[in-house]
Amino acid sequence: MTDTELIRRALEARRFAWCPYSGIAVGAALLCSDGTVFTGCNIENSSLGATNCAERTAIFSAVAAGHRDFSAIAICGGPSGSAPSVLCPPCGICRQVMTEFCSPDFRVILAVSDQDFTVSTLSALLPSSFGPSDLGK
Ligand code: THU
Repeated sequence: MTDTELIRRALEARRFAWCPYSGIAVGAALLCSDGTVFTGCNIENSSLGATNCAERTAIFSAVAAGHRDFSAIAICGGPSGSAPSVLCPPCGICRQVMTEFCSPDFRVILAVSDQDFTVSTLSALLPSSFGPSDLGK
């Protein structure tokens, strides 16, 4: 699975975003170490705090299916109804959820398109994070 292919999966998943309140549609594609891909979109709620981000939808779907070993995630987002025009970085809660399951070198791909993207790491996006080891796990 190349970065380009993973981005295409995130762009496809973005089509399913439920975002009537913000109008921002986000898609994510999570690559497991065994090559399996789980996708997610943001799912908003009229009680706004019940909204789930695209990244967490993908991660929770993967964990619920028995996968906990991840190598990369591709994320794309922007106003619904048009192609992304800027990068959509993961929110703080999603970075924290990544920390639960992913190593510091977990690759985070932020994409405008499959030709225009950046690659970072979880440790760069969330340095000095609180994680399982802080609870002795
Ligand atoms: N959103 C995501 O899906 N992922 C992020 O990491 C940032 C924000 C969604 C949540 C909400 O539905 C919309 O983008 C606007 O905040």
